[in-house]
Amino acid sequence: MLLGTQQVSAAGHLVIGGCDTVELAQQYGTPLYVMDEACIRENCRAYRRAFESRHPQTEICYAGKAFLTMALCRIVDQEGLGLDVASAGEFYTALQAGFPPGRVYLHGNFKSPMEMGMALDHGVGRIVVDSVEELELIDSLAQAKGTTANILLRVTPAVDPHTHKFIQTGKIDSKFGLGIDTGQALAGVRHALNCQSIKLCGLHCHVGSQLLDLEAFDLAAEMMPQFIKTVDQETGVTIEELNVGGGLGIRYLEEHQPPSVENLAETVLTKLKRGLSASGLPMPKIMLEPGRSIVGEAGTTLYTIGPIKDIPHVRKYVSVDGGLSDNPRPALYDARYSALIANRATEPPNEVVTVAGKHCETDNLIMDIALASPRPGDTLAVQSTGAYNYAMSSNYNRFTRPAVVLVNEGESEVIVRRETLEDLVAHDVLPERLRC
Ligand SMILES: Cc1ncc(COP(=O)(O)O)c(C=O)c1O
Repeated sequence: MLLGTQQVSAAGHLVIGGCDTVELAQQYGTPLYVMDEACIRENCRAYRRAFESRHPQTEICYAGKAFLTMALCRIVDQEGLGLDVASAGEFYTALQAGFPPGRVYLHGNFKSPMEMGMALDHGVGRIVVDSVEELELIDSLAQAKGTTANILLRVTPAVDPHTHKFIQTGKIDSKFGLGIDTGQALAGVRHALNCQSIKLCGLHCHVGSQLLDLEAFDLAAEMMPQFIKTVDQETGVTIEELNVGGGLGIRYLEEHQPPSVENLAETVLTKLKRGLSASGLPMPKIMLEPGRSIVGEAGTTLYTIGPIKDIPHVRKYVSVDGGLSDNPRPALYDARYSALIANRATEPPNEVVTVAGKHCETDNLIMDIALASPRPGDTLAVQSTGAYNYAMSSNYNRFTRPAVVLVNEGESEVIVRRETLEDLVAHDVLPERLRC
């Protein structure tokens, strides 16, 4: 499986964005995150094309939680997308990159007063409000600042997608949003309308992540017009903006075949239009906030293969120089990945092995994967690591986080430098009494 601009050179090396991955590994060291710029840009464009051609009043926002750096903010801005941020840190990254705050959406089920104040001070586009407590806090903060907070109210349409339980977020039993079925969503709308310094611009819902079929989107697109109708009837307010949450799943494995963005747009927009027009209601501005499907397949992690432990008749462990700290998803979600030997990319994957990380854990990165006779010193390329890898990385075992390079048309540029050992102790404080 070759993704984005991936190719194999005449020398049998994996090439991404016109750059030889074996040379990248030599030049920048491993582990190394490689991001394919053309692939990211094409994914942004595909979402805009699919939605704007069917409903011009659309805003595609990139969900920064998937992977956010200042360079990525610039690319997303250049591609004309908005940006969904989930913390002061993500918002600060966007501001430092010069991303227009008016196109930023602030999320989170527990925004601190500092985060809300930051959003109001910088004129963030929308605050996506998760609870009544938050409405009250934002209202009083906005009043004190003499401003109005533009919000979307996050509601949970009780859709249960077939995905890992940690990334199902639209179910009733979820910490996010106000339940439609429980009546809390309508109560939240009424509450927002009574707030002096809050403008309720619209609604937000999100059903889940890594969705490989359209069922959950379809259900949400059926339920939201019903709720919009209820809001209209009960409060007289017409909802002008509707954010339908994250995007499609991606190909981690060959058998993962997500629907096309065109199919997604057709399904969601048709359902929404039909449901709303049946109630005589206008189609609102539609927003979508894909993360994984913008950057996931654009990312590849390069590792160097080290010791190989063959336990006869049991398993062959192939160790790499990273693991849990640069990719916690196998441990968190039982996530599966595809990989290939980057320096022998044309050789048939003839040996089933387990790729193990180098942490003091059983951090198996990939169980039972067929690779082309892995040897110490080979470069292993793990695919589809662009989303929720660097973003979820840690310093576990005091590993330094890898560098991130952006590749495009044969050029490579560092967009996040590799952490150093000095970085690891930079925030440590040694009390005077312990020095000697
Ligand atoms: C509210 C919200 N929006 C957007 C996303 C991005 O989803 P994805 O990366 O699957 O497109 C998520 C991820 O869970 C989310 O919780």
